[in-house]
Amino acid sequence: MARTDNDTWDLASSVGTTATAVAAGRALATKDPRGLIHDPFADPLVRAVGVDFFVKMIDGELDEALFSDVAPERVQGMIDAMAVRTKFFDDYFTSATADGTRQAVILASGLDARAYRLPWPSGTVVFEIDQPQVIEFKTGVFDGLGAAPTAQRHTIGIDLREDWPTALQAAGFDAAAPTAWLAEGLLVYLPPEAQDRLFDTITSLSAPGSAVATEYVPGIIDFDPQAGTDMTSTARDHGLDLDMGSLVYTGPRSHVIEYLGAKGWAVTGTPGPELFQRSGLPTPPEQDDNSPFGEIVYVSATLN
Ligand SMILES: C[S@@+](CC[C@H](N)C(=O)[O-])C[C@H]1O[C@@H](n2cnc3c(N)ncnc32)[C@H](O)[C@@H]1O
Repeated sequence: MARTDNDTWDLASSVGTTATAVAAGRALATKDPRGLIHDPFADPLVRAVGVDFFVKMIDGELDEALFSDVAPERVQGMIDAMAVRTKFFDDYFTSATADGTRQAVILASGLDARAYRLPWPSGTVVFEIDQPQVIEFKTGVFDGLGAAPTAQRHTIGIDLREDWPTALQAAGFDAAAPTAWLAEGLLVYLPPEAQDRLFDTITSLSAPGSAVATEYVPGIIDFDPQAGTDMTSTARDHGLDLDMGSLVYTGPRSHVIEYLGAKGWAVTGTPGPELFQRSGLPTPPEQDDNSPFGEIVYVSATLN
């Protein structure tokens, strides 16, 4: 179904399904004997959502036909990609807190378990923002697991196209304190103007010493919805209700690195292959010509 200005979802529908998909990737990366990342909550969270396709995926029980035309190294490459992405943003928070930051905001937190698994320094406050049903479900699963956050966790269930800054401040956010912001796996699901507004707002709420991290897909400006639909067609044939072509906002949008730079941030962009090399992982084969996204650049920036 096409996106609308006020569409909503849970973790098994629309954009919410993508949160479960990436958590399934983290669950698989966590099981990898090479010890790429450690997210012990990804597996129970994905099981709790209960989408059959993803439960089978983490159990290694997906129909082999699904991957019949995909090279094995490409499948492993997708798991490794989740691992390097997770590690990049884990390291980002570790470095921000080592520099003294004690306030973090995880935008579009989905099934991100960092508030429960990172070794936050004492006194750190972590705000998580996502759609109400997403926040409520995840909190319920953690409560059911008897898991305690490793920071002071505050949740805000709101759409990021609405007035989330007011809701964030009402939840105790301190704009005078340096903040480490994260927008992981979010931007392509926001309309171009909402992406700009997001970074405008982040900038206006950021005290000196703040940091922001995200990932940027330069090829998104040429995103072909039909290619996105095709990309997820085999999974749909295997029962997954996911059509990437209908979820991504298309058309021109700001270049994240340039946009943040113009707002006064000192920005570093790290190409995906470099992260693989840093982690000692084989770089996955080149994206084929049909890839609707293309390369990913991991972005971190500081405001001084
Ligand atoms: C690919 S998932 C990423 C989740 C999480 N950041 C991670 O990497 O595991 C996309 C997330 O963006 C959230 N999202 C997308 N658009 C949103 C919006 N307008 N308001 C609130 N959340 C949104 C979805 O609910 C979903 O959790």
